[in-house]
Amino acid sequence: SVGLTGTKYGCGGGGCGACTVMVSRYDPIQETVLHWSVTACLQPICSLHGAAVVTVEGIGSTKTKLHPVQERIAKAHGSQCGFCTPGMVMSMYTLLRNNPQPTTEDIRETLGGNLCRCTGYRPIIDGFKTFCNTLISCQNGDRNGKCCMENKLFSMDNVLPLDPTQDLIFPPELLIMGKKKAERLCFQGEKVRWISPADLKDLIKLKAEYSNAPLLVGNTTIGPKMNLKGTVHPLVLYGGSIPELRTIKWRNNGVTVGAGCSLSVLKDVLLQGIEELGPEKSRVYQALVQTLQCLASKQIRNMASLLIPSILFLTTNSLLQYKYNMNFSFHSEKLIANPCALQWEFVSAFRQAQRREFSFSIVNSGMRVTFRHDSNVVENLDIFYGGVGPTLVKARHTCKELMGRKWDEKLLVVGTQLLEEEIYVPPTAPGGQEEYRKALVLSFFFKFYMQVTLDALKPFKNEVPQANHSFQVVSLPMKLQLVPETQSSNDPVGRPNVHQAALQQATGEAVYYDDIPSVKGELFVSMVTSTRAHAKIISIDASMALAMSGVVTFISAKDVPGQNRRLWFNNPEELFAEEEVICVGQIIGAIVAETREQAKRAAEQVDITYEDIQPVFFTIEEAIEHQSFFDPKRKLERGNLEEGFEKADHILEGELYMGGQEHFYMETQGLIAIPKGEAGELELYVASQHAAYTQEVVGITLGIDSNKITCHVKRLGGGFGGKVMKIASLSAIAATAAYKTGRAVRCVLEREDDMLITSGRSPFLGKYKVGYLNDGTILAADITYYSNGGCTLDESSFIMEKALLHMDNGYKIPNLRGHGLVCKTYLPSYTAFRGFGGPQGLTIIESVLHEVAARCGLPVRDINMYKDEKCYTHHKQLFSPHDMVRCWNECLEKSDYTHRCLSIKQFNAHNHWKKRGISIVPLKFGIGFSKGFYNQGAALVNIYKDGSVLISHGGTEMGQGINTKAIQIASRILKVPMSSIHIKETCTGNVPNAAPSAASFGTDAVGMAVKDGCEKLMRRLEPLIKKHPQFTWQQLISLSATGFFMGPHTSVDWEKSDGNAYYYFTFGACCSEVEIDCLTGDHKNIRTDIVMDVGRSINPALDVGQVEGGFVQGIGLYTIEELQFSPEGVLLTRGPSRYKIPALCDIPPQLNVHLLRNADNPHAIYSSKGIGEPPVFFGCTLFFAIKEAIAAARRERGLSESFPFSSPATAEKIRMACEDCFTRMNPPDRKVKTKPWAINV
Ligand SMILES: Cc1cc2nc3c(=O)[nH]c(=O)nc-3n(C[C@H](O)[C@H](O)[C@H](O)COP(=O)(O)OP(=O)(O)OC[C@H]3O[C@@H](n4cnc5c(N)ncnc54)[C@H](O)[C@@H]3O)c2cc1C
Ligand code: FES
Ligand code: FES
Repeated sequence: SVGLTGTKYGCGGGGCGACTVMVSRYDPIQETVLHWSVTACLQPICSLHGAAVVTVEGIGSTKTKLHPVQERIAKAHGSQCGFCTPGMVMSMYTLLRNNPQPTTEDIRETLGGNLCRCTGYRPIIDGFKTFCNTLISCQNGDRNGKCCMENKLFSMDNVLPLDPTQDLIFPPELLIMGKKKAERLCFQGEKVRWISPADLKDLIKLKAEYSNAPLLVGNTTIGPKMNLKGTVHPLVLYGGSIPELRTIKWRNNGVTVGAGCSLSVLKDVLLQGIEELGPEKSRVYQALVQTLQCLASKQIRNMASLLIPSILFLTTNSLLQYKYNMNFSFHSEKLIANPCALQWEFVSAFRQAQRREFSFSIVNSGMRVTFRHDSNVVENLDIFYGGVGPTLVKARHTCKELMGRKWDEKLLVVGTQLLEEEIYVPPTAPGGQEEYRKALVLSFFFKFYMQVTLDALKPFKNEVPQANHSFQVVSLPMKLQLVPETQSSNDPVGRPNVHQAALQQATGEAVYYDDIPSVKGELFVSMVTSTRAHAKIISIDASMALAMSGVVTFISAKDVPGQNRRLWFNNPEELFAEEEVICVGQIIGAIVAETREQAKRAAEQVDITYEDIQPVFFTIEEAIEHQSFFDPKRKLERGNLEEGFEKADHILEGELYMGGQEHFYMETQGLIAIPKGEAGELELYVASQHAAYTQEVVGITLGIDSNKITCHVKRLGGGFGGKVMKIASLSAIAATAAYKTGRAVRCVLEREDDMLITSGRSPFLGKYKVGYLNDGTILAADITYYSNGGCTLDESSFIMEKALLHMDNGYKIPNLRGHGLVCKTYLPSYTAFRGFGGPQGLTIIESVLHEVAARCGLPVRDINMYKDEKCYTHHKQLFSPHDMVRCWNECLEKSDYTHRCLSIKQFNAHNHWKKRGISIVPLKFGIGFSKGFYNQGAALVNIYKDGSVLISHGGTEMGQGINTKAIQIASRILKVPMSSIHIKETCTGNVPNAAPSAASFGTDAVGMAVKDGCEKLMRRLEPLIKKHPQFTWQQLISLSATGFFMGPHTSVDWEKSDGNAYYYFTFGACCSEVEIDCLTGDHKNIRTDIVMDVGRSINPALDVGQVEGGFVQGIGLYTIEELQFSPEGVLLTRGPSRYKIPALCDIPPQLNVHLLRNADNPHAIYSSKGIGEPPVFFGCTLFFAIKEAIAAARRERGLSESFPFSSPATAEKIRMACEDCFTRMNPPDRKVKTKPWAINV
């Protein structure tokens, strides 16, 4: 109601950090005001009694004064779509409030819980590192400490200094309140009663009276359930403000920490203990600190209390004692037992998670052993595991049996056998992965054994690998493309200008669709989706929902005034399922209510009766069995395959499966539909990458002409291809609701629903046969690509075409054939995602090259690369690979590839349980739509009397900087400063029928159109300027002109395998090195070097941002992002707690991006090149490097180097591929058929 929309909502469960704010409280124990960064989505308003909350708006603004944090993240190019930016700013601001001179490690820890899907994190860190006392050379600097300031990717000249006097003071009235003795507080809401007891006595009394009421402290367990699962507790007791629960007492036998203390407070206490006791005596504390560092995020640790033993100290449970009040099971304080580890006592903590940090562990463990004085005889042994049962498991029998034994290899063998028998992970365990979990149980024990054996000789060192990763960018100087010396200093083209809206984004002033204030009478719509994969709809009963408070109506297919379908290239898709559902998550109806909570609650009450229909299947393999494919089936071919195979010395057959990917744009999909009440006019404020298509679909749905429907798109909080298609259906549904009620309707998908309904990148399976000579020359390759298209075609056939068109990558394989089949399954329909089939097409051919290289031990990529000045692709498109070869050679040189291969060999020879791998790939990526008519751009340029310029264009600003580049182009032509040019929004009323912003072609098309419009104006103005040289041109005339661009036709004749599919190719090369832990499957990205040809960049800062951001999305695609479906076709991984996109911890400590110098491109505006999509594919270098590292481990163990391995390369797959005695100890009984937890679709 106060309109502070700067704080963003990305997940509602504490898992993304977009909602970070600072909470300050007076602490009566420390007698000072303390500041904490917290996630607003998990802060119940009642818990904030007596607290001051500072949001991004409270620290600075463009209208008054910026805060240095806001200014520096913007200037360092750390804000692309900007949706994560307020959260980043508030995390950093809170750090600086507590510590004005942080270290880079402090910054890394602080930002660990703030996800960004656009930037790749590097520029954010670079901007914030300028607050550190000692400036470490940044991404753009050199080894001598010369930083970005030197080569001007960004400049920190004249930035605002950190000035504490600018900070809001803690309100004096809260200070007075905080010093007073607390009283019992009671709040009554619509559904929940909240009581904050005055003190511990009061709490105990209340708890005795209301034993069922949960005691809430940090709300990080209860909150997500209430927010996302609809759990309602009629009464809540709040323990967070009780001083007795927050006391810390140092005792002779340890320290007692109140159960209401946050995990951050606990960490500080432990660090204090470590400092006082020294390294030898503080082993227990060190183990706890290391575990704490990996647990959740800074914000969550600032909120969460130490209540659940299983979370934190499964690990070292034996060291934590709980003081129980016998009246009820309540822990008022926790004693962290004797910290003074004995000389013969060893403690270790282990954990393995899907992501190195900010992720629940798959298995974790705490182990402690004490030896009889001066001997290696075990006196005491404790082994605990988490993640192997419903609660903490102690290996009691094993520990008992091992006591009294000598700590030697025999103990290891017996211990492993005992553990294998004692720790049972049922095949039905929630989360699945039972074989992996079993392997981890044994591997952790082995690690502990080794550690103790070695530590007896060396100083104590715990191992929690996730905590050892520190973010530090040490980089070679980045070769920025410089503008020619002759270029006027007023001409911004080619210069690294800051994103046009970066400051608005950093201050929270930037408006996204859900920030638009509600319109009078506005309603909210929530979708009702199918819970069955393939079924007949027998009945829909919305009566219960309609009876609920605030519910206005229920809409379904019969409420659609026009046509209940979305048409895409003659392929219809129902808006509301009418008779039959074909996937879980398909929209059947929608509830319209006064508020979003009411709509959400009521939508869950709509009762649908189904009758299941056969067949129902979800996987590519099953679709092949059922011969269930969409049309058209595509083929591309060159040469004579049979001849090629005949001449080959070797034939190899294999396959590669690549899992799908969720877009996980930080802003979920949605819109506001506002009926204007006159002539059927409707305004839509919508997060769409393709406003014209949304307009068209809404028109058809309502039976209204497009001229009555106006779509406005100010900006998107990320799109990545996910906001082209489904948003049109959502818009049509919201528009139907607006039509029926005559009122404005808002639709904002919750993260869970967004992931379920809108789907993402399709999984691919490539089956190949390749023939090659002894010298590494590949003569023939025959690849069949299968993609999982889901239940409707959507864009899947075009995605498949792009995969086929990229199947040659940079290689001249004379006989090459590709078949492409899109499988029709009963999953939500897959859609466009950055790269659009390119990464899949490229990865499968790279896999072929990788396997051939692994077998013949030769530089197969080099040998087979296109090298002639004039080459033809397999679809007979002429191109010159000159710049691709330059990128390749430069990448080899800059990454020091040959030398590092030798070092890796040496490393692997000296390390049995850790292995390294390196991989380098070239890239040739087609730019533009292969459907020629899409390659068009349009713009409208208006000049006003005051000389200011307003541009409208058909592109969508979603973080890529299309507006910034358009303004740079206009500024060059109109010869006015960028500050005089503005782009307000994308609007179908200003620029009609625009193509989607996609295919890396947005800037090419829009840039050309803006150029055309501006040049038209200049042609009209120039004679006048000559005639009246005394006037500035602004004084002469007011002008408006449209600009249009339509490039030469592109198309492919699929019958003849012939056609110019693209305007040109963007080239590049990437080299990555990784290290794997063979015992756990953990991997570390060590270093990545990228050389990218972006032609003559219009804005190198934005282009580098695209390269890094795309690459980091690729890290996710190829390593940690794993979508899981249940055997019933239900998406299990919905939301950031289950689906892990790369966080700060996943970025290689060395990430060097080089833009190729002196590269031209006659086919695009000012010789630039499209760059949005290509770098995602570079993530595959990590996949192949991991595969190489696993092969090294297998070679050493005498195992075959050819092994099945699919993408993403998760910890589970890495561990299980590094077969050893532990993985073999308990082979799965394949005869016993158990239902798997998840299936590979
Ligand atoms: C994004 C996110 C990431 C997370 N990551 C991890 C992770 O990596 N590893 C991990 O282990 N956990 C993780 N958690 C869980 C979280 O850290 C724990 O849930 C946290 O310790 C709970 O503390 P709380 O004060 O917030 O609990 P609340 O939600 O306030 O309360 C939870 C429950 O505990 C009971 N309770 C509270 N205090 C006491 C007490 N003193 N005695 C007895 N019962 C009590 C309450 O009655 C209630 O039922 C994560 C949570 C989130 C939201
Ligand atoms: S919205 Fe609060 S953490 Fe995601
Ligand atoms: S800029 Fe971080 S999510 Fe877009």
